Amino acid sequence: MSNRVAVVTGAGKGLGEAIAREIAASQVSVVLAGRALEPLERTRERIVSAGGTAIVKRTDVTDAQSVAELFDTAEAEFGRLDVLVNNAGVTAHVNLDDLDESEFDRIFATNVRGMFLCSREAGRRFAAAGSGRAINVASVFGLLGRPGFSAYCASKGAVVNFTRSVAAEWAKFGAQMNAVAPGYFATDINAELREDDAAMAKVLRRIPAYRMGTPDELANIVAYLALQAPDFLTGQTIAVDGGESSV
Ligand SMILES: NC(=O)c1ccc[n+]([C@@H]2O[C@H](COP(=O)([O-])OP(=O)(O)OC[C@H]3O[C@@H](n4cnc5c(N)ncnc54)[C@H](OP(=O)(O)O)[C@@H]3O)[C@@H](O)[C@H]2O)c1
Repeated sequence: MSNRVAVVTGAGKGLGEAIAREIAASQVSVVLAGRALEPLERTRERIVSAGGTAIVKRTDVTDAQSVAELFDTAEAEFGRLDVLVNNAGVTAHVNLDDLDESEFDRIFATNVRGMFLCSREAGRRFAAAGSGRAINVASVFGLLGRPGFSAYCASKGAVVNFTRSVAAEWAKFGAQMNAVAPGYFATDINAELREDDAAMAKVLRRIPAYRMGTPDELANIVAYLALQAPDFLTGQTIAVDGGESSV
């Protein structure tokens, strides 16, 4: 019986839901965070009906006060924190010339500032406990450049290098930070792309496995990093992309 506790951001749908369910299946109590309550409640119901434990906390990861309340709630409810998954993220497909400041700021506020705020809260608790794990959901777009995605690619590149830097700080007190870089997984974030046959054909030609991943394939590796990986593994970004970043 594990009494570990995890916070997963963006846990109402897509990859975050799959990650939360996979972690909960290992008897870890999960705090499900996101802005919309309804999808979070759905994830909670699925976890509970599978025999797991989860609570919902409405959170905007861009807001420091909201993030502080998320971690206070986790602590008040479960008394400890072992795992943080920084999964919440947004994207936009727009060329640089048409990219306005508010869109750029929205992407960085969620993908970078949100990760920073959650990691700082978790890191303070991990330092006090002398252990803890954070996993950041970066992207293959953080390893490669892609036209039309400059803000998103830059934000996910920041995730990769934030992971290296924080891992080096946290190693001093026995906590780890790693990242995963998903390739294409069918979720709401790429719903528009999947409706465009020509664009999809172009995407598939770039993926040696010639398919999208399934959310459980990503959830599996995140759960491994969160719960099983050796402490000596830290600061790394693991691409889960059907080979896309290898060619
Ligand atoms: N799917 C892919 O192919 C793919 C590939 C590479 C990387 N990724 C990354 O994987 C992560 C999950 O994406 P997904 O594909 O599962 O997309 P998704 O289905 O659109 O889910 C995104 C999640 O992030 C949450 N979120 C967004 N802004 C937030 C905020 N300010 N505060 C709290 N939560 C927020 C959303 O919930 P609310 O809107 O309710 O807050 C939602 O649960 C993202 O970081 C994304 O960049 C995905």
